[in-house]
Amino acid sequence: MKHKSLIAVLFATAGLFLLTACGNEGVKKDEKPVDVQELTKDQPEVHGTEVKESDITLGTPLDQAMVSAGKATYELKCQSCHKLTDEKLVGPGWKDVTKRRQPVWIMNMITNVDMMLAKDAEAQKLLELCLVRMPNQNITTDESRKVLEFMRSNDGEK
Ligand code: HEC
Repeated sequence: MKHKSLIAVLFATAGLFLLTACGNEGVKKDEKPVDVQELTKDQPEVHGTEVKESDITLGTPLDQAMVSAGKATYELKCQSCHKLTDEKLVGPGWKDVTKRRQPVWIMNMITNVDMMLAKDAEAQKLLELCLVRMPNQNITTDESRKVLEFMRSNDGEK
């Protein structure tokens, strides 16, 4: 029994460390802590259909309806881990993500994170840095395209 509670304390401490390791900010006190164990447990490999480069067309000017829809998805499903600046939270900040990454990479990271973490070297580097798996959130290809439009807007495209 004693042994078990010691292990629990160790896990709790490790959890705190994991949560703050990727960010300067850490997690605000009133925020519900992320369940690291839940996030790091084995997840089924591929959920969505892999997005191909030829599936994506980027237009200018930006489609503002898509930007708003993407922003709504961001606020609902991404904001708890990603800031819009270059600061890390649980995951990397999104500022300039459209400049560091190809659209097809970004969209697969959103719709097929398990596949990316299994085989993409850049995604694996981020996991090493953040120590938390980005969860698959069953985002459709269409939704992820709108998030991409919002990211372009956040990076100053018009
Ligand atoms: C529970 C926290 C969490 C949530 C929620 C989350 N992410 Fe992530 N995200 C991460 C982590 C952590 C990484 C770094 C890769 C890893 O460790 O798995 C990441 C990486 C990324 C990257 C790559 C960033 C870069 O700099 O290359 C993109 C793009 C991304 N996430 C998009 C999204 C989108 C879109 C959503 C919402 C639909 C979302 N994420 C929700 C934690 C999260």
